[in-house]
Amino acid sequence: MAETLNILVVDDEKPIREVMKEFLERGQSYRVLTAQDGFEALQIIAKEKIDCCLTDISMPGVDGLELTERIQAMDNTIPVVVMTGYPSLDSAIRTLKNGVVDFLIKPVKMEQLSMVIERTMRERALFVENVLLKEEVKGKQRLLDLNRELEEKIRELETVNLILRRLDHPASSRALFETLVKLCGEVTSCDEAHFVVLDQEGKDPSVISSFYEGAVRGAPEIQPVRRELLDRLAMEGIPVLVKGENGKGNLIAAPLKIRSSLFGALVLKANNGKGPLKERDLYYLNFVLEKASSSIENFALYDNLYQSLFSILYAFVETLEARDAYTKQHSSRVTQYSVAMAKALGRPDEDMEILQVSANLHDIGKIGIPDHILLKPGRLTDDEYHVIKRHPLIGSHIVGHFDMWSREQRVIRAHHERWDGRGYPDGLRGEEVPYLSRIIAVADVYDALTSDRSYRSKMSTEKAAAILQENSGSQFDPEILALFLDLLRQGTVDLSEGPHETGVQREAPVHSGWVS
Ligand SMILES: [Fe+2]
Repeated sequence: MAETLNILVVDDEKPIREVMKEFLERGQSYRVLTAQDGFEALQIIAKEKIDCCLTDISMPGVDGLELTERIQAMDNTIPVVVMTGYPSLDSAIRTLKNGVVDFLIKPVKMEQLSMVIERTMRERALFVENVLLKEEVKGKQRLLDLNRELEEKIRELETVNLILRRLDHPASSRALFETLVKLCGEVTSCDEAHFVVLDQEGKDPSVISSFYEGAVRGAPEIQPVRRELLDRLAMEGIPVLVKGENGKGNLIAAPLKIRSSLFGALVLKANNGKGPLKERDLYYLNFVLEKASSSIENFALYDNLYQSLFSILYAFVETLEARDAYTKQHSSRVTQYSVAMAKALGRPDEDMEILQVSANLHDIGKIGIPDHILLKPGRLTDDEYHVIKRHPLIGSHIVGHFDMWSREQRVIRAHHERWDGRGYPDGLRGEEVPYLSRIIAVADVYDALTSDRSYRSKMSTEKAAAILQENSGSQFDPEILALFLDLLRQGTVDLSEGPHETGVQREAPVHSGWVS
């Protein structure tokens, strides 16, 4: 069943309203509402759904033209047909401008009335359809825009998340700088990224780490970042975007500040490989720098603390060694032998760092040994030797106060363990003895043998090497010892010709031949 349309007839003449209502409702397609003037018409429109309005032009109060304007303002899908007795071109133009869609000439002929309404309703349907289509197109476009924005936001979030993950808990400051430049290569469209450290005046740049797209470096560059650019960065303290060299591509240099002072700069270059660097690249670069600066600051504070602590503990070792001319610089030489062995054995950088602490501090536990034993001239009694054997434990307890030195603690504790399990304090055997402790054990004994003692002069390298060899597989790890003897033969590690001053002997009876 066809929908009944609501027609509003507005005329100040009651007979006209009644005739039109009766005529239009006869066919049951229309429901007719009537109003005697514009005010009443507007009230009806506010309450009812009106499909078409027929209005007289000349009415008291709100006339037909004003009514049309106000209807247009309320709902521009309601077509308005005006009924006028004296149509002229001028009035026709005026009414059309006001949104009138058609005319009926008074006196209105009924057959014409039906025709005009039908035509108006067809046009209105088209108009409404058109409006709906436009709305739909607008809606679809909006959806597409929203989808694009959403995708953009997701990409941004993923990138930020990637940056946060990569810069979270870097293993070392070196790893952090490597990560920084690689990350810039991933999240921006740069072809090269360099991290440059500057001095306090923003001068003396040195490139710490570099990234090259596809790892293809091309011709090696001595200084991949122009000096004047860094000067400008140091002066202005804000990111700088400039054209690339020879007008090719562009580059961004951004400062990395630690507590508002310039520490270094990240320089990104686009050489036209992935297009020029844009605002978004700068956004990610700033985010990377912000996150990195707090990590670098933490590393700097940690390094500072680490260095201070090591300096204090090493000062104890030096004091101990200074009281006994036999052992002057003993720990320093043991460290040099140990590091040389570790390098020749291809140990990782991390082991070198552990050795720097544990070899230098291996005898720090002697702080806890009473002077009358530690500095006793001549041989020690068994009881005294028992006391002095506590020094690896005491040393490991001292270093063990600092969590960052847990590996060093184990190495120090085991530096008097033996390959055959007859060492102390734990009687560890073979590979149970930490690898670095086995290295220090060789270095420690070699330095003791090639140093003067009150009861003997220092041994020659050859003699010391022969004694070490006799104890291969008993006191020492045979592989490590073989390597050390090789190094001695090659003359690459021997420090025994250096100054070894004489003084009093204060160590153990020669249970195992020697004790450092
Ligand atoms: Fe020792």
